[in-house]
Amino acid sequence: MPSRSLRRLLLGWLLAPLLVLLALGAAGTFYIARNAANDAYDKELLDPMLALAQHVQLVNGQPAFNLTQTARDLLLVDAYDNIYYQLSANGSQPVGNLYLPVPPNIGDKALFYNATYSGRSIRVAALRIHIEKGGSGVLQVAETLNKRDSHLLHILLGLLAPAVVIALAAIVLVWFGVRRGLAPLQSLQEEIAARSHRDLRPVPEHHAPDEVRPVVASLNALLGRLDAALASQQRFLANAAHQLRTPLAGLQTQVELALRGDLPEDLRPTFACLHASTIRTAHLANQLLTLARAEPGALPPDAMQWLDLRSVVEDAARIWVPRALDKQLDLGFDMAPAWLVGEPLLLRELLANLIDNALRYTAPGGSITVRCGSAADAWLEVEDNGIGIPAAAITKVRERFYRVEGSPGDGCGLGLAIVDEIARVHDAVLEITAPAAGRGTLVRLRFPHPQAKVFSST
Ligand SMILES: Nc1ncnc2c1ncn2[C@@H]1O[C@H](COP(=O)(O)OP(=O)(O)O)[C@@H](O)[C@H]1O
Ligand SMILES: [Mg+2]
Repeated sequence: MPSRSLRRLLLGWLLAPLLVLLALGAAGTFYIARNAANDAYDKELLDPMLALAQHVQLVNGQPAFNLTQTARDLLLVDAYDNIYYQLSANGSQPVGNLYLPVPPNIGDKALFYNATYSGRSIRVAALRIHIEKGGSGVLQVAETLNKRDSHLLHILLGLLAPAVVIALAAIVLVWFGVRRGLAPLQSLQEEIAARSHRDLRPVPEHHAPDEVRPVVASLNALLGRLDAALASQQRFLANAAHQLRTPLAGLQTQVELALRGDLPEDLRPTFACLHASTIRTAHLANQLLTLARAEPGALPPDAMQWLDLRSVVEDAARIWVPRALDKQLDLGFDMAPAWLVGEPLLLRELLANLIDNALRYTAPGGSITVRCGSAADAWLEVEDNGIGIPAAAITKVRERFYRVEGSPGDGCGLGLAIVDEIARVHDAVLEITAPAAGRGTLVRLRFPHPQAKVFSST
């Protein structure tokens, strides 16, 4: 499978051609620079040759230098290279310290060529010189290649260094370029990863780089379809629960009427049972409806309002104190103002489910306290000293239809699921623990201050 790393792909596509281009460029430059340098050094080699040529004359009919050996040596001094010379004429012994064959066709213009002399590479200049009385000879001057070689080495290094720097810079630029280019993707990924499974709002497309926008658009379309499917499921649940409520209420009334009338004694237990089942089923339908209403998306956009939780708790007190007295439970309230942004009906359901649980799961003689107030955030507590929730079940009690095994009463296991859902709609933190006293249950909710909420959602 080919590499899926963009970085590697880009490096491959950029770096390989870049290296080839750099190598071609360097080779071309090297070739041109080497020829230019050779030409310059060749011209320099002409100087001692022309100087020598001026001191050639015929001696006994043979070309010879009219300079002493020392004078000749002085003419041929060079700081870096050894310089050799040779003067040849037809039919006579060559003069000089270079023993090279004379190339044919030497003209009046200097000829330059490479040769090997006693195992070393040399550069040779050859020139035909004319001596008085029609005599002629060939003068060859040669030098070793030290100057030229070190010059070439300089050129080579001068070309290689920038090529290496450019290649390294390309690697670094691609590395960081890809990283910067992909940074929006990274933040997109973080944004999606940070979402809860209930948050099906579209991902903002303008956060995505142009190339990834179609992917985000498709993702948003999928989120949209998912949202629609969930909403229709939710509507179905709400409708079904709602449709069930009316006939159940009718059924309950009928059974109650029958129980109050003169019913044959043997049918009474059956009708009592029927009554209990009807109440339980009506309760289930109500709870399902509440759950459907508390789901995200079910709330109209302007449902949330600035309200004091204390008024919700006061309403609850009126409803629940008589029921607590019936069960010989001490239901106390401890209220302070607690302003928050919330949906009053849902908050009432939340509190009703918590108090209902506390009443159900606390034996007569026990006590229940409902508190609300606000520190930085508004908070709500319902505490009882009842049977408590086993530690092993504490994480499960929020699940739908979960009931602790052997729980008394005929609950349907939706109460805390509803509380959890309503807490979520309010961005509230829900904690279910044992109270400090050790016995019973303490449920605590903290509602983040609206300013903090606005701050955290931007
Ligand atoms: N205040 C409480 N004290 C003891 N147990 C509780 C309390 N509240 C909830 N529970 C336990 O958590 C389970 C789930 O509660 P809930 O979702 O309200 O369902 P239900 O009350 O219908 O059984 C209950 O079955 C019960 O065992
Ligand atoms: Mg309950």
